[in-house]
Amino acid sequence: MTKLRVGVIGAGTISQVEHIPNLIALGDLFQLVGVADPSATARTFVADTWNVATFETPDALLEQKLDAVVIGAPDPLHYELVVAALARGLHVFCEKPLCYSPAEIADIIAARNKAGRVVQVGYMKRFDPSYRHALTVLPGTAKTLRYVSVEVNDPDAWPFIAHARTKFGNDVPDELKQLAGRKKQAQIEAAFGKPLGKLAFAGFSGAYSSALIHDVNAVHGILDALGVPDGEVVGGQIFAGGAGGQGTVRLLGGQALWSMTHLTVPDVADYKERISVYFDDAILELEFPSPYLNHHPTRLTVKTSDGHTLSVNEIRPGYQEAFVEELRGFWAAIVTGEPVVNLPEHAARDQKLLIGLTNRYLETI
Ligand SMILES: NC(=O)c1ccc[n+]([C@@H]2O[C@H](COP(=O)([O-])OP(=O)(O)OC[C@H]3O[C@@H](n4cnc5c(N)ncnc54)[C@H](O)[C@@H]3O)[C@@H](O)[C@H]2O)c1
Repeated sequence: MTKLRVGVIGAGTISQVEHIPNLIALGDLFQLVGVADPSATARTFVADTWNVATFETPDALLEQKLDAVVIGAPDPLHYELVVAALARGLHVFCEKPLCYSPAEIADIIAARNKAGRVVQVGYMKRFDPSYRHALTVLPGTAKTLRYVSVEVNDPDAWPFIAHARTKFGNDVPDELKQLAGRKKQAQIEAAFGKPLGKLAFAGFSGAYSSALIHDVNAVHGILDALGVPDGEVVGGQIFAGGAGGQGTVRLLGGQALWSMTHLTVPDVADYKERISVYFDDAILELEFPSPYLNHHPTRLTVKTSDGHTLSVNEIRPGYQEAFVEELRGFWAAIVTGEPVVNLPEHAARDQKLLIGLTNRYLETI
């Protein structure tokens, strides 16, 4: 079996809870060469916990003999890190959001094509066994599609990573933090062609591009399976200081509607992420657990009726972990030429919609 030499950039929550232990567990597919993070606390913890070489800068890691990188660094660094890794001829797995703007993603697509390498985006839900199964039980047509609903409440990671081995320090040098902040401002300004106000900035970068993006991508996959083309944004609201983001999309010229809401509820240790798809004669529902609760299955139910008799069919296709399966998918795309499941092209489509929701919100204030 070909073992890929891989480096991880960014050793925060997602890398400590998922990518580093998962790459090590997949030791027949990957050799974890090293991890880069500017936080000395994170580096010491990674070295002590997993016995992995650590590097202060991404460049120092990229100088090692690598085949691929996994990028779990803050969002505004994704663009430059992906481009730098491709320039060195490496395959890239990058967390979502790939970038804020379709223009940056177009650059990445050009760099990927020039390098002839794989770029995969971290939309792990596409590897969730229940999500995959849902695509197979959808009707082959959208003729009776009426409504798609996305509802998310999330306190962020704290209740769901207590079981994991983690350590975070507040020791990233100030100048690096400020630089990342300036990059974020500039990238978002470029995405909209103008600076955004405080609330729109928080909602676009947080509720939309960091959170609801998962559901936008997952629903795009469902709509693709139904043969529904991209719809028209008819509503978008940012609220709760940017902790809440809502959007409405008209589908099939008004035959159906897609409504989505994400809200961070910071002090309640509860998580709900539900995607419901309503047809005249069936309701399909996916209820995802917090992603950090590895192997906890996503609840897939299909409701149908025979006259007065309602059937609720709960389908549990397996306990595979989406965060692990996405790494297997990355390996297979590189080594055996399997199609890349989450392409930058998909990220560009998702980002275009999120920009559309934000613009709609801006029109209403
Ligand atoms: N797929 C998912 O469900 C999921 C979940 C959480 C986070 N994410 C994504 O993963 C990425 C990281 O998120 P997180 O929650 O782990 O964040 P985090 O803040 O916990 O970790 C970020 C890490 O990057 C490091 N860092 C800071 N500046 C850096 C720099 N200049 N160069 C390299 N590293 C730097 C920090 O020290 C920190 O260790 C984000 O893009 C986020 O959107 C995805």
